Amino acid sequence: MNKWEYNMERIIDGETLNVPEHVAIILDGNGRWAKKRFMPRNYGHMQGAKTVEKMCEVVRDLGIKYFTVYAFSTENWKRPQSEVDALMKLLRKYMIDSLERTAKNNMRVRVIGDKTGLSEDIQKSIADVETASAGNTGLNFTIAINYGSRDEMIRAMKKMLADGHTNPDEMSEALFEHYLDTAGMPDPDLVIRTSGEQRVSNFLLWQMAYSEFYFTPVLWPDYNKETMIEAIRAYSKRDRRFGGV
Ligand code: IPE
Ligand code: IPE
Ligand code: MG
Repeated sequence: MNKWEYNMERIIDGETLNVPEHVAIILDGNGRWAKKRFMPRNYGHMQGAKTVEKMCEVVRDLGIKYFTVYAFSTENWKRPQSEVDALMKLLRKYMIDSLERTAKNNMRVRVIGDKTGLSEDIQKSIADVETASAGNTGLNFTIAINYGSRDEMIRAMKKMLADGHTNPDEMSEALFEHYLDTAGMPDPDLVIRTSGEQRVSNFLLWQMAYSEFYFTPVLWPDYNKETMIEAIRAYSKRDRRFGGV
């Protein structure tokens, strides 16, 4: 199927836009947002978490079906212990609150990343939300925690081999994808990074083979409906060719 067929034309505030099916965001700039306000970095993370919640509603209302956010990378453990602890505390609270929220808003929550590296209680609350929301048919919200794309691919290969797929002739993109954390999800159509950085930082390397990129100087806690529409507007103007003409 031509991947464009997934995309949807929608009229948003009087403007016809091509809404991507899957938007993935490298949310960045929480620390700088707090610093600008002479506040501790963790305050920025708190605001950032609120923005995540708000943006789930915004993207759902815009007609986006899959929304993925990069919340904690396999490299983020290098941060000071106090910051790692604060981020884990926010994630823990987020998962617990999600249980109730997803029941109301029909959202399906998934977590990608190496969950075994997280504390047991967080693993348990992730499993609870994933199970409870598995049948929900609204927004597919995916949160990347202890996620690194290289780590994901190595874990996928290990699982594939452990399942007995050792014959080289059997290998295919489809088989490999089946073992990725994102199995069953469409690739991101649009990848956004906030805060002015223009790098991928080990996010969805396999999955973004044909994604469109959008970089914005806006710091994540300031992200909102208008800045999201700006990104979709830019996306609407792109000519996706997937190697064709
Ligand atoms: C993004 O904000 C959140 C995480 C990576 C957890 P940062 O914490 O990276 O904010 P900056 O880049 O220092 O401003
Ligand atoms: C990328 O942000 C990871 C997440 C958004 C979770 P970072 O702020 O950690 O990335 P670098 O270190 O600037 O590349
Ligand atoms: Mg950063």
